[in-house]
Amino acid sequence: MKKYIKNFEVKANLHLNELYSVLKLTPVDGLMPDMYPGQFVQVLIENSGHTYLRRPISINFLDKEKNELWLLVRGAGEGTKSLLRIDVGSILNLVLPLGKGFSLKSERALLVGGGVGVAPLLLLGKTLNEHGTDVSFLLGARSGADLLLVDEFAKYGTVFLSTEDGSIGEEGLVTCNSAMQSDFDIIQCCGPLPMMKAVAKIARRRGIECEVSLENMMACGLGACLCCVEDTVSDGNVCVCKEGPVFNINELKWQI
Ligand SMILES: Cc1cc2nc3c(=O)[nH]c(=O)nc-3n(C[C@H](O)[C@H](O)[C@H](O)COP(=O)(O)OP(=O)(O)OC[C@H]3O[C@@H](n4cnc5c(N)ncnc54)[C@H](O)[C@@H]3O)c2cc1C
Ligand code: FES
Repeated sequence: MKKYIKNFEVKANLHLNELYSVLKLTPVDGLMPDMYPGQFVQVLIENSGHTYLRRPISINFLDKEKNELWLLVRGAGEGTKSLLRIDVGSILNLVLPLGKGFSLKSERALLVGGGVGVAPLLLLGKTLNEHGTDVSFLLGARSGADLLLVDEFAKYGTVFLSTEDGSIGEEGLVTCNSAMQSDFDIIQCCGPLPMMKAVAKIARRRGIECEVSLENMMACGLGACLCCVEDTVSDGNVCVCKEGPVFNINELKWQI
């Protein structure tokens, strides 16, 4: 798939809470590349002495009517925190689209996300919904205040919520949510590694196909530096940035 280095203008920077923002971007030349759910972009962070490498951020959503690409950003360190502060009208340079995304052939899909891992599931849910898939989302967070974009997810499927403090939805981790006991063709998951392993374990036990999106440390994002490798069943060590970040759990050598 052809990759681009492109300038995007920041049309909006919506602060969801002190840790998270949605950046709405339009290509300066007006031409939005094709992209698939689960792919990501590499963002150039300017005006910083410590963020020489681009930062990988998932494609959160594509608003075709407004020609907007959305990025859901969590302020983790210097690079992402500077994105939270970016002004409307600023220019961001992106390399995109990178990696391979989620599969799109299912009749009933459960999309499970925790924290900033919910990011790629919005475009995935919308795309599956357009393909006629019955979509359910299971979103987890520490408390209700940390649940992100719930109204947006609700446009494309049924939403189940889990919070660790029980303030909204079912109390506990996503793996304890009653939605995990329903029947699905596939579970597609993105979030912290322990959460993805726990979800994968349930999927395997129940004989449900399962895909996870890995967030290995990345530098080039193009399969050149080898800093993101993951050991796989069929192909040995592969670059997550190029052959992933989405993998079927049967390809991963996880002890689950
Ligand atoms: C495929 C992929 C998709 C991602 N999607 C999103 C997203 O949609 N939204 C979002 O907010 N974040 C996303 N991340 C994580 C994001 O890339 C890191 O939080 C960011 O690179 C940290 O950079 P920093 O300068 O803010 O912090 P740093 O000070 O560099 O690091 C802060 C923390 O982030 C970790 N980190 C640093 N660099 C990376 C890296 N290149 N990859 C993974 N973790 C890193 C460090 O181990 C450290 O714990 C994604 C990561 C990957 C690999
Ligand atoms: S990030 Fe360089 S090879 Fe994957």
